[in-house]
Amino acid sequence: MTPTGSPEAAGNPGPAGSLEGKVALVTGASRGIGLAAAAALRDQGARVVITSRSEERAKEAAAELGGAIEGFGAHATDEAAARACVEHTVATYGRLDVLVNNAGTNPAYGPVIDQDHARFTKTMDVNLWAPILWTSLAVRAWMGEHGGSVVNTASIGGYSVAADVGVYHVSKAALIHLTKQLALELAPAVRVNAIAPGVVRTRLAEALWQGERETKVAAATPLGRIGEPEDIGAAVAFLAGDAARWITGETLVVDGGQLLGPGAV
Ligand SMILES: NC(=O)c1ccc[n+]([C@@H]2O[C@H](COP(=O)([O-])OP(=O)(O)OC[C@H]3O[C@@H](n4cnc5c(N)ncnc54)[C@H](OP(=O)(O)O)[C@@H]3O)[C@@H](O)[C@H]2O)c1
Repeated sequence: MTPTGSPEAAGNPGPAGSLEGKVALVTGASRGIGLAAAAALRDQGARVVITSRSEERAKEAAAELGGAIEGFGAHATDEAAARACVEHTVATYGRLDVLVNNAGTNPAYGPVIDQDHARFTKTMDVNLWAPILWTSLAVRAWMGEHGGSVVNTASIGGYSVAADVGVYHVSKAALIHLTKQLALELAPAVRVNAIAPGVVRTRLAEALWQGERETKVAAATPLGRIGEPEDIGAAVAFLAGDAARWITGETLVVDGGQLLGPGAV
């Protein structure tokens, strides 16, 4: 095994194609950021398996993107489905080099003290437990022995507080910390990093950008617009690939400067 951060791994990773021959798995990728990340990884040369709660939606999304992508139905917190997906990936493609823990949810709107245990638990299960579960499976199935790279999808919400989405923000803050913890535990074989997107044009964040809200968010964003899923996909591909070979435990903010601006969203 060549540890991903070792001196032997040094060398010019090349501007493109750094994932040539590699295999990636992206959870929660039937649309939005996950789908864009899958496309970016594929464009770097990887074969990619994407998941959704619905096998049909996963397969439709994979077909839409064309070659080198396969869809698999697996709820992110369903251990049996997760195990089946990881085993299928390694059995079919012979390896698993990149895991993107992207599936996320935000069912707990309103002040934290008004939330019930069920909504709290669902948020934490999908946003925090699932990345542990899938990372554990990927490490045991392939990465622990052969090396690999994990990218978690956090949020700038993990660095800020805001009314009405407190539980979600707490889950993403914990995911940023989890990223460091796993990076330490899994080095040198496996690098573990995260991205922290700002407001991106996806269904999950519709309430933040629909209608007139988009103009307001764009005005509060130093780079002048909300994010597109492809903006995040490019950052995922960077962290997953050899260009980031000496980066681990890091969270890359990809938000057009939203965290810098007044009244960050
Ligand atoms: N959009 C933003 O502004 C923003 C900002 C910061 C962070 N994020 C994070 O980015 C990630 C992706 O969100 P998105 O904005 O791209 O949302 P999205 O467009 O709603 O996509 C969410 C994806 O996750 C899948 N999914 C949802 N729950 C799942 C589960 N329990 N198991 C498996 N798959 C599941 C959905 O597929 P099915 O419905 O087909 O299952 C869908 O493909 C999330 O972790 C989110 O917290 C988003």
